[in-house]
Amino acid sequence: MSGDVVSAADGRARPGDWPGASEWVPRGRSVAALADAAQRCRGCDLFRDTTQAVMGSGPADAELVLVGEQPGDREDVEGEPFVGPAGRLLDAALTEAGLDPSAVYRTNVVKHFRHTDRGGKRIHKSPARWQVAKCEPWLLAELDRVRPRGAVLLGATAGQEAFGATFRVGESRGRWLPWPQAWPAHRGEFTLATPHPASVLRSRRRDEDLAALVADLRVAAELLT
Ligand code: URA
Ligand code: SF4
Repeated sequence: MSGDVVSAADGRARPGDWPGASEWVPRGRSVAALADAAQRCRGCDLFRDTTQAVMGSGPADAELVLVGEQPGDREDVEGEPFVGPAGRLLDAALTEAGLDPSAVYRTNVVKHFRHTDRGGKRIHKSPARWQVAKCEPWLLAELDRVRPRGAVLLGATAGQEAFGATFRVGESRGRWLPWPQAWPAHRGEFTLATPHPASVLRSRRRDEDLAALVADLRVAAELLT
């Protein structure tokens, strides 16, 4: 079964060779069960050269979900989302915006760390659109189980996963956006887009961009009241 798929696809990263994640997603309502199951996922080629799959973390009944892109180098090693530098900045911004970091559920569009090796260092590489599509069943399963009222889309990968390839964070940030049609609705009331905290870390106008991130997160906090 999955073993055949992997060997048939070995050495090639052609989208059609990979089945997508759905056959590995367990039934039921448990959020905790997803992280275990994702370790076996062979839905696309990204499980290779990684330490582990990184599923979301946070309260299973959180009102707010934060959706990033994919685990980074630290997250791959530790098995938790947003534990590296971008995560620390995000937590500080959440607190500043009046949101309790321990009350939100953090996750990513893609569950394995895509990277290239350069001089022995693992350099982040954004997932391709086809890899995002293959991995989507995991995010949909999380949303179906956590049933949040709102979701913050951190950066272009999350924004485009929700609203399609033409979505631009810069044009839509910091205001109420609808709950995406393809997502399990349940309590879903809104999404809100904002630039990824990693882009704030890289910015030459870091203080300004951090203040703008905080302002966007304040809007999310208000939408929850
Ligand atoms: N960037 C992300 O998008 N997600 C993480 O978990 C860490 C960094
Ligand atoms: Fe499965 Fe997603 Fe990992 Fe691809 S990135 S192997 S679809 S969990």
